[in-house]
Amino acid sequence: SKQQFVVLTGSLRKASFNAVIANSLAQLAPANSKVTQLGSIGDFPLYNQDLQEEQGFPDAVTEMAKAIAAADGVIIVSPEYNYSVPGVLKNALDWLSRVSPQPFAGKPVMITSASPGGIGGARMQYHLRQILVFFDAKVMNKPEAMIGQVASKVVDGQLVDEPTREFLQKQLLSFSVFAS
Ligand code: FNR
Repeated sequence: SKQQFVVLTGSLRKASFNAVIANSLAQLAPANSKVTQLGSIGDFPLYNQDLQEEQGFPDAVTEMAKAIAAADGVIIVSPEYNYSVPGVLKNALDWLSRVSPQPFAGKPVMITSASPGGIGGARMQYHLRQILVFFDAKVMNKPEAMIGQVASKVVDGQLVDEPTREFLQKQLLSFSVFAS
């Protein structure tokens, strides 16, 4: 049966470049794999331990944790905010980290980021990797994908830049091997 990969997107913006990249992955993944988008992390409330203790986990958190636990690998596609992980993504990871059993433990993870700037979100990736150390996730080191100047690579909500598509294809192929 096919490898099942799920994609977590770190931007809530309607016209998000990172969401465009995330949506392109299903077409670029190897034939032996299936790529599915997780729900929006915009459905997660701001983490508050009182909320968790008094009301339990919100459905959106429980559903995402289940989908991650069931997947063969998780792909995180996110922008960089102020040289780090966007608050909305950190909030989602904080929620997911409290679910027991913790869904990222031992889970293969691939990271991709995109930015209109030249660095492509690289600095965010190293902060994200640090968080995933605590999660005991199995994060793929290479190939790294940091997509700079992304605004020139997207037309009408589609990733049209052929070298970027080919590079993502290679990253997904490596991830397929890494996760098997
Ligand atoms: C940014 N942006 C940004 N870009 C970058 O390359 N490095 C950075 O540190 C930041 N910091 C940052 C902070 C905040 C609060 C915002 C709103 C934006 C620009 C960012 O890459 C750009 O807005 C992207 O378009 C965001 O990704 P999505 O939403 O298009 O996926």
